[in-house]
Amino acid sequence: MGPGPINADPRVLRAMSAQLVGQYDPSMTAYMTETQELYRGVFRTANEATLLVDGTSRAGIEAALVSLLSPGDRVLVPVFGRFGHLLVEIAERCGAEVHTIETEWGTVFTPEQIEAAILEVRPTLLAVVHGDTSTTVAQPLDELGAICRAHDVLFYTDVTASIGGNRFETDAWGLDAVTGGLQKCLGGPSGSAPITLSPRAVAVIESRKSIEAGLRSLDPGDADSEVRAERIRSNYFDLAMILDYWGPKRLNHHTEATTMLYGARECARIILEEGLYETIARHALHGSAMLAGLTGLGLTIFGDLAHKMTNVVAVYIPDGVNGDAVRAELLNDYGIEIGTSFGPLHGKVWRIGTMGYNARKDTVLTTLAALEAVLRRAGVTLTAGGGTGAAQDVYSDAA
Ligand SMILES: Cc1ncc(COP(=O)(O)O)c(C=O)c1O
Repeated sequence: MGPGPINADPRVLRAMSAQLVGQYDPSMTAYMTETQELYRGVFRTANEATLLVDGTSRAGIEAALVSLLSPGDRVLVPVFGRFGHLLVEIAERCGAEVHTIETEWGTVFTPEQIEAAILEVRPTLLAVVHGDTSTTVAQPLDELGAICRAHDVLFYTDVTASIGGNRFETDAWGLDAVTGGLQKCLGGPSGSAPITLSPRAVAVIESRKSIEAGLRSLDPGDADSEVRAERIRSNYFDLAMILDYWGPKRLNHHTEATTMLYGARECARIILEEGLYETIARHALHGSAMLAGLTGLGLTIFGDLAHKMTNVVAVYIPDGVNGDAVRAELLNDYGIEIGTSFGPLHGKVWRIGTMGYNARKDTVLTTLAALEAVLRRAGVTLTAGGGTGAAQDVYSDAA
């Protein structure tokens, strides 16, 4: 019950135990094509360029940024938590000129603040995290696409923590590049990063394309024969080549991580079978029950609740309580993991997730009951049954 990774859905684990097939086996390429369509549904996009980057979520971030950014390009990153700093770190390593605006952890920016910074910096790319797991809040993105278009800025976001559990619309919100991961609301393991790219983003990436020797066309009249002086600065994360691998050319690049493909495909199938909006509503219900339960115990919640993600809550560690000792007791005696926190919040809050396969009534109630028992042993005075009672009220009201 931490901020992710969480327990994978057993269906995903079963899918991942299937036998491997060759990377050009018709069933493998059919799975790849099917997975692209499934993730168009999850990302809410018509983008042809929707695929998987092999690697954890930061592989997706790195692929997007290294493929979209040329050295010296200006990037604006609004930072409101640890993962905004990660975008800065990766964009800097791409050789970009990175500008930031910062807001206190637990808060988000207004569209006006971001537009003012765009006007000042004049970036080629706005890179912003959607839900920052470190603070539990999500930056509203719905007005930023129009702002980016008006100022001719590409718009990238990281939805690792939010996708599947919170409303997110790639096309309606005007996103050019979006990357995620399986290990939060999608109910899978880390190790595959779904990505979607708008035609505008693909055009930028294609303009930087330089195909490896050995695969390159030898016909000088063919665009695929061109060798560019300034190549995308990573081979593994070169989205121009990865797009050719996933596209009709099936031009060889890496060997697709077959088992992760099976897992990613199953994650999306489960969500779309339940219904994307129904899955989001399930996260909202169990997240509300957890929040009510923690409040009902008499604990204090961190952050701007108006912008809190549905799937994770940060709660202040009561005065005089050793946060790590409580976490250890929950894990060792009850088999329940809750999360610690980073940076300015380290030692101050626990982060508790209700996501993916773990966004369920039984997990919420068991966690609240166990937390009450552990805190009572640690000497905290609590409302007896206040946690499970408040959560049950949320479930009764929703029924
Ligand atoms: C919002 C966000 N972005 C990026 C990452 C990095 O993901 P990974 O550890 O899968 O590379 C995480 C991990 O928790 C995250 O929460």
